[in-house]
Amino acid sequence: MSVEFGVDYYPEHWDRSRWETDASLMREMGVDVVRMGEFSWFKLEPDPGNYDFSWLDEAIALLGRHGIKTVVGTPTAAPPRWLVDLDPSILPVDTQGITRGFGGRHHVCHSNRTYRDRSMDIVVAMAEHYRGNPDVVGWQVDNELGNSHENLCTCDSCRSGFHAWLERRYGGIESLNAAWGTGFWSQNYTAFSQIPAPRITPNSHNPSLLLDWRRFCSDLIAGFGRMQVEAIRGRCPGKFVTHNMMGFAEKVDYYDLGASLDFASHDQYPMGYWMSEEEKSPSSLAATLDFIRGVKRRNFWVMEEQAGPAGWETLGRTPGPGQLGLWTAQAVAHGADAVVFFRWRTCTFGTEEFWHGILPHSGVPGRRYAELSRMIARLRPVMREVKGVCREGDVGIVYDYDQCWALRIQPHHPKLSYVSAILRYYAAFFRRNIPVDFLGPDAELKGYKVVVAPLMFVLGGDTEEKLRRYVAEGGALVLTMRTGVKTETDTCRTDGSLPCGLTDVAGVEVLDYDCLRDSDVPVAWVASPSGEDCGTWWSDVLSPRDGAEVLATYGDGFYRGAPAVTVHRYGKGIAYYVGTQPSASLLQKIVDRVSAAAGAGGLAEAEDGVEVACRAGAGADYLFVMNHADGPRRVEVPAAWAPVDGGEGPSIEPYGVRIFKRPRD
Ligand code: GLA
Ligand code: ZN
Repeated sequence: MSVEFGVDYYPEHWDRSRWETDASLMREMGVDVVRMGEFSWFKLEPDPGNYDFSWLDEAIALLGRHGIKTVVGTPTAAPPRWLVDLDPSILPVDTQGITRGFGGRHHVCHSNRTYRDRSMDIVVAMAEHYRGNPDVVGWQVDNELGNSHENLCTCDSCRSGFHAWLERRYGGIESLNAAWGTGFWSQNYTAFSQIPAPRITPNSHNPSLLLDWRRFCSDLIAGFGRMQVEAIRGRCPGKFVTHNMMGFAEKVDYYDLGASLDFASHDQYPMGYWMSEEEKSPSSLAATLDFIRGVKRRNFWVMEEQAGPAGWETLGRTPGPGQLGLWTAQAVAHGADAVVFFRWRTCTFGTEEFWHGILPHSGVPGRRYAELSRMIARLRPVMREVKGVCREGDVGIVYDYDQCWALRIQPHHPKLSYVSAILRYYAAFFRRNIPVDFLGPDAELKGYKVVVAPLMFVLGGDTEEKLRRYVAEGGALVLTMRTGVKTETDTCRTDGSLPCGLTDVAGVEVLDYDCLRDSDVPVAWVASPSGEDCGTWWSDVLSPRDGAEVLATYGDGFYRGAPAVTVHRYGKGIAYYVGTQPSASLLQKIVDRVSAAAGAGGLAEAEDGVEVACRAGAGADYLFVMNHADGPRRVEVPAAWAPVDGGEGPSIEPYGVRIFKRPRD
């Protein structure tokens, strides 16, 4: 049974008499799967230990009769009031020591015994109940693990969990003192039990403590997910287990969380009201999807795709005609094997009553229903041909949580953001329609023509060795400012000039550096200087060695004329060093130079606003041409691609999608 399109459905929010109508309307639009149950703990267990799955059984069966399969969500993101009453210590404690109350969702501490036990009880009960149900195709554990947990939880239970975690990592307290440098400000510990969970202090915590705390929290939450996955997997053979991730959200290391899943899922809200303009740009949306594909190096599901204007207390913009379909196509183009829309019908009560679904409050199908029905019909035949085949690009960008966390703790420049740097590098490849893969710290680099590893701030022996080998064996590596600065325990490295450990590979030493605060520094690209090129956030003043070539120099400051960007041959390969965060114009020059030298080409040439992406299939590859702009745009698709759907000619309409095909060579 093949499923491609779905909706997040909450039958418990509607009168039973409506379910039949919903199922027929879903079927008519091409929905073949629903996700249900992920917030209905109370409905499923109204009193402790007293389970009632009858309403969900009925919904699953009714939808099944219409040919619609179900993904069951475990409801652990919304613990009912009785559970909090049973043990109030399940409530999380924030960094001010304040207990967050019941009333939203995710009001939990993941290390709390009662919460973990009760979660497992209901997960096991559900897994046993649905194991043989032919209409249930798979499971989603919890919901967006790590969401609503930014500063949580610092309770006593988490603190002792942290102590045990640290003891496993460091063995004895003296090695922790040495690894963290607790001699600074008299923070030496004589027992693990003295170590705080990082509550607010009169000023800042030790960065080494903060980094280990983030690692601990990630392990804790990923471990909570894994515990559910294992319970389900052991009981429900033949059904997949997944989890809905949130793109570049930072709380949980998704490589780790993803390891136990059959495939990753993701929630994509292209017009999220909480997102910056950069995050909402077409290239960032594409990057997010590529990152999720990178989590397991395989295709994924979008478990929640925005289906209307969305917000809680405040709302984002309303997607214009064509945009919902465009985003659906974009998800498929980047490796979604199924797209599930959030949500079927807009709820009429609760926090999300303005988070619009496909159907409006009235339940009467309108513009969104019609538009998505059309796009489903267009995409399904392609999806059936490409399902399960994972694309591989020539270019890889390293995304590493340690860097993200360590730079969150010490961003240097107030605006420096690891994710933002990643998105900017990605955007320069995107602009040329060069496909990009995301690589975790353990990923194999071999085979990539270009690897970009921005801001490798915390750099340990294994990763360093891997980067070195990649270049020695013929790869083209892009390194940047703030590489090799820190040890794995987040203290400063002392083994030579920056980039520590990689100076011979990069062919540079950093002699001096400058945090650019409110000023940018002009940069001259040696081959074609122009007024708009500059560096932001930071500049490394470089001294080339071993024959490194200077590609760009600084145009201002005490280091005027000093190298800003260099390239160096090492072994059979080549290493670039970029000493600043380049402006978009400068970054484009760097990326163009790097990709031309490595022979990493774009799929097609298109005007700004048009994205061209390739989805690999078993017998043929598909090219998706997508116009994210609100006006017509020009695109030139190479003749080898035959049009399949969506028209021909050089002009593509606003929010238009075209699909082309080429047999595999
Ligand atoms: C997340 C959740 C959904 C819903 C939407 C909208 O993605 O997974 O349950 O809350 O956001 O807020
Ligand atoms: Zn806690």
